[in-house]
Amino acid sequence: MLAGTVAAGAAAKSTCHVISTPPFYVQRRMPAHEQNRRAWNRRVRERERFTEPATDEDFRDPLTAVGGAAWLGGDVRGKRVLCLGAGGGRQGPLFAAAGATTTVVDISSAMLAIDREVAHARGLPLTVIEGSMDDLSALSAAAFDLVSQPVSTCYVPDISRVYREVARVTAPDGIYVSQHKQPTSLQAEVRMSSRGYVLEEPYYRDSPLPEVQGSPHREPGTLEYLHRWEELLGGLCRAGFVIEDVLEPRHADFSAAIDSFAHRCCYLPPYVRIKARRGKNPLKNASASRANIWLP
Ligand SMILES: C[S@@+](CC[C@H](N)C(=O)[O-])C[C@H]1O[C@@H](n2cnc3c(N)ncnc32)[C@H](O)[C@@H]1O
Repeated sequence: MLAGTVAAGAAAKSTCHVISTPPFYVQRRMPAHEQNRRAWNRRVRERERFTEPATDEDFRDPLTAVGGAAWLGGDVRGKRVLCLGAGGGRQGPLFAAAGATTTVVDISSAMLAIDREVAHARGLPLTVIEGSMDDLSALSAAAFDLVSQPVSTCYVPDISRVYREVARVTAPDGIYVSQHKQPTSLQAEVRMSSRGYVLEEPYYRDSPLPEVQGSPHREPGTLEYLHRWEELLGGLCRAGFVIEDVLEPRHADFSAAIDSFAHRCCYLPPYVRIKARRGKNPLKNASASRANIWLP
């Protein structure tokens, strides 16, 4: 367990507040977490995709740059925001620049170092915590009005643990915006064959996806897990959230070269973005009964 508990906004007076305690996954020897921590640290050293901080242009309109203006009512000033699995100097500093009291949790110290640098350079208050999204015991219950999670749940085997933790730290009526990799995209081959982008990986599985090279929608060196739709959407409901909207960010371009990211996206949308609201009494909803559902 992470030692100590921090309330959101503990760092409001200093520029950047770092909570550094022995991460639980080290003590519990969870190989996926350790592999992903190392892989993301290496990605930062090698300046790979998704390790670029927000630009000056992004900071001109931070809420639009972070992609949530419409869902967040156009204003996050004074809100307590948790950016989960979101290191890299982008989401956290942008929310802080938009006036939110912001905390970033990420497993990679190198990704968090970028957040610290950006916050320092721009004089933004930011709390960064090195830890895993499926154990937020360093954070108080109901500490956040908004939890924003870019694509990162693919790195944990059990998404229901993440949802349970997010439900605990989100205040009643608070918002959880999360983006995930779509299962079918993870099942399909990276390159097109004469039969299209063939589905090759099983949907039902109890092991990570095989490692991949040269993929524009997966990250080499990481261990990634496919989460089924019932886990992505039903899991949210069972954790006590009400889904208010679902988007598939569009990356398709029918004029793009075969095998490029944009070409594959014409057939296989890579991501789904979900807006959910925490119910007032989430634990009552937690055990949805399958017996009440009509199944064909
Ligand atoms: C695709 S990046 C998302 C943030 C990036 N700034 C962006 O704009 O896309 C995925 C992040 O998930 C983090 N991550 C991987 N496993 C994690 C875990 N178990 N708990 C918390 N963060 C994790 C990685 O370190 C990485 O920073």
